[in-house]
Amino acid sequence: CKIRIYKFNVMATNTTRLCSTKPAVTVNGLFPGPTIFANEDDDLLVKVVNQVQYNLTIHWHGIKQLRSGWADGPAFITQCPIQPGQTYVYNFTITDQRGTLWWHAHIGWLRATVHGALVILPKLGLPYPFPPPDSEVVIILDLAENKNLMDYLFYMVAAIVFYSDIETLINSAMKEGLPFQVSDAYTINGQSRPISNCSSEGGFSFPVEPGKKYMLRIINAALNEELFFKIAGHSLTVVEVDATYVKPFKTGTIFITPGQTTNAILEADLGTGNYLMAASPFMAEPVPIDYTAATATVHYSGTQSSAATTFTDLPPRNATPLATAFVDSLKSLNSQRYPARVPLTVDHSLLFTMGLGFNPCATCIRGSRIAAYFNNISFIRPAISLLNAHFFNISGVFADDFPGNPPIRTMEGTRLYRLAFNSTVQLVLQDTAMITPENHPIHLHGMNFFVVGRGLGNFDPEKDPSNFNLVDPVERNTVGVPSGGWVAVRFRADNPGVWFMHCHLESHTLVGLEMAFVVDNGQGPNQSVRPPPRDLPSC
Ligand code: C2O
Repeated sequence: CKIRIYKFNVMATNTTRLCSTKPAVTVNGLFPGPTIFANEDDDLLVKVVNQVQYNLTIHWHGIKQLRSGWADGPAFITQCPIQPGQTYVYNFTITDQRGTLWWHAHIGWLRATVHGALVILPKLGLPYPFPPPDSEVVIILDLAENKNLMDYLFYMVAAIVFYSDIETLINSAMKEGLPFQVSDAYTINGQSRPISNCSSEGGFSFPVEPGKKYMLRIINAALNEELFFKIAGHSLTVVEVDATYVKPFKTGTIFITPGQTTNAILEADLGTGNYLMAASPFMAEPVPIDYTAATATVHYSGTQSSAATTFTDLPPRNATPLATAFVDSLKSLNSQRYPARVPLTVDHSLLFTMGLGFNPCATCIRGSRIAAYFNNISFIRPAISLLNAHFFNISGVFADDFPGNPPIRTMEGTRLYRLAFNSTVQLVLQDTAMITPENHPIHLHGMNFFVVGRGLGNFDPEKDPSNFNLVDPVERNTVGVPSGGWVAVRFRADNPGVWFMHCHLESHTLVGLEMAFVVDNGQGPNQSVRPPPRDLPSC
């Protein structure tokens, strides 16, 4: 194994999107940011230099961070922010995972522009467990906003504090032209094909040779949007999600939530022409925001014209059956070399309800009119990092009494759930669909889980477990909990530390759809997590 060294200068960079040039926070001047390449078992050293006026952290989304929680990145969970002018070196080893992951800022809304791909190739000398592609490409799906990040932060915070519900927020924001203006568009690899006439923005073009196979490493980096992805005239063979191999299957449409990654093989079997590639939004029910699908082009070499074959069949926004069919097709590869280690017994059987509702509490810390919660606890981030508090045994920062019997009314709190090291967990995530028609993409840090069951309506503890897939369920780090439905996951708490779990829709995270697990080996915290690096930022 190797040591891979990267340097991230986080800086303000003038960026042109949708015909206007604005400063955006970028890494090394790039949007999307640089791709990190490594092999499984490599050590990564990423030196992050904060040259902007905002506090900053970087998260390595999906990296298990075995005993190295200090490098995980969520602000006030595993570290204090890197302050303007400061530097922090993220140092971690890639253990027992390979595939596509990504990195992003993990504080406020900074990840809107601070993100990039993290490509983990198999151990040296090991082939992929599928026919090797001739070449590979990273495809980052995102949203370009015709505004700068500070507008975004200001209006979101203002909207959350002053408006009483999301619809008023969206409507008033649309009236002001911010932040949900209709000229906004999805992007593919940072480029939005112009819906206006700026000739500088031609959209991303992917050149292919007829007869060759390409692996697309697709990442949904959008703040709040679940997406369908497809290429006109071609089907795609899915081989991996969230850096775990799956049983390959062919599909016309990929469904991907914020936080998720999908590797799929494109066979350039049409010989000639240009074909549109598109990312279009999914929402269980239509809402009054109208983004245009992002498009890019697959360009066969030798094709003269630039006109592309368009779609006759882009999925409608509320194509729930299509999204469900895609998710149901995902099964772990579960081969001899890559077995699915699904916990067959359960030490902790948990049910977390989640949702978004009106905040009944007039004097709450966050002060917003809406609150989101797991088990009616709307999470408040502490003033120092939870991992610090855990490691150095600082009391008063968090409680470890996350409610098994949730309170009847929503309340705020920094409450964690304690798991014995190596214990097994079954967690049912139940959406209560109070006021939003969205799936909740729930992301767990530090450990992958197996998605053993999924359904609409309320989870039935008598009936549903008998249908769980305990043989080859998909293993991942982010799962979409269907609107008004549930998902059951299982995992082994084999990574000591403090691990954040949250909705990967920024608008929900912002109002408290978060919690954390503390995993402790019982021999005292100093025995479990490695000591903090010397340059760890302090609060
Ligand atoms: Cu991709 Cu906690 O984040």
